[in-house]
Amino acid sequence: MVLENLSARAHIIQTMLTPLEKLAYTARQGARVAWYMGHGLAAGQFRKTEPGVSEVTRDRPRQKGPGMQQLLASLAATFQRDLDNVAAGYYPLPRDADGSPGRLLKTSRAFLADVPVAAERKAKGEGTEVYSPDKAEELPAYFLQNFHYQTGGYLTEDSAEIYDMQTEVLFSGSTNAMRRECLVPLWEFMRGRDQRQTKIADIACGTGRFGRFVKQAYPRIDLTLSDLSDAYLTEAKRHLKDYSNVSYEVANAEKLPFADASLDVVTSIYLFHEVPPKVRRIIAKEFARVLKPGGRLIFMDSLQLGDIDGYDGMLQSFPVNFHEPYYGSYIKEDLADIFREAGLFHTESRPVFLSKLVVCDKP
Ligand SMILES: C[S@@+](CC[C@H](N)C(=O)[O-])C[C@H]1O[C@@H](n2cnc3c(N)ncnc32)[C@H](O)[C@@H]1O
Repeated sequence: MVLENLSARAHIIQTMLTPLEKLAYTARQGARVAWYMGHGLAAGQFRKTEPGVSEVTRDRPRQKGPGMQQLLASLAATFQRDLDNVAAGYYPLPRDADGSPGRLLKTSRAFLADVPVAAERKAKGEGTEVYSPDKAEELPAYFLQNFHYQTGGYLTEDSAEIYDMQTEVLFSGSTNAMRRECLVPLWEFMRGRDQRQTKIADIACGTGRFGRFVKQAYPRIDLTLSDLSDAYLTEAKRHLKDYSNVSYEVANAEKLPFADASLDVVTSIYLFHEVPPKVRRIIAKEFARVLKPGGRLIFMDSLQLGDIDGYDGMLQSFPVNFHEPYYGSYIKEDLADIFREAGLFHTESRPVFLSKLVVCDKP
């Protein structure tokens, strides 16, 4: 029913994009893909020659992942889908806001400078350089790690500055396009609602990329961005400085700073693979607690085992190549079950390139 409504609307306003707009979109996204893929290739060259790589290959899963051709076809389909979503009226033409040329170059230099440092950390098998007993008094131990071997973990301004580049390099420039797919179930939820009366929170918002897309689509919505990392939230504030009606909360998602039944929508992207299984369940209960009856959870994280034929080998090798201590358990989770147990009604799960979108409503 919902799909029928969506495609009917898509049909009505399909002509809204001019050929020039389509061309501009293709040129912009093509340049992003080239920029981030280029950095991926440069970083990959370095990783190939790093010491200790034989230890990593020894543990490599036997199953093969998808071929390059299949991945490139899926990447192209992701951007086509993004453009179709815009043409369908689900959200405006995206402004990725990667920064000025000067800022891009600065981030590029910082990213490339960290590649050998991360490679050395990986060769030594280190992943908890940021842990210290005094920090563990205020932050959970699972959080005090160098996820992806990145310097500073989630704790420093330098790490926050290069995080977006790291994710875009990982996904060849498609991370923002995948995140934007979350705006489709948001559009569906917002039909007939007054955005000024709608409260939405993005939990584990990181540097605020998705929050900015929410504001581009709904400038008057009441948005809260929340994350456990003070440094990442500071970067998010910078990223959304031009938008009003946005609040920021440094908070652990295990204990959200919202009253029971106070939010219309909760969104959360790429959080669950970073936390242990029992913490996922606590956070799911928090999502359910803070949502109003009739409210909606829009959740995105990595693809999981069995989601797409032939992709399992690639998913299994991800935590071997990057420090991702909880990813192995994440890809086996039944997400719909976790959210159902938390008291939510699961309405949809579907792959979005290398991510998975899950939508649940609070009865
Ligand atoms: C992979 S990043 C995802 C960030 C962002 N949502 C995105 O789309 O890129 C994971 C984020 O989860 C945050 N995080 C990890 N554990 C958390 C917790 N228990 N509570 C709140 N945030 C947490 C980290 O600080 C980091 O910003």
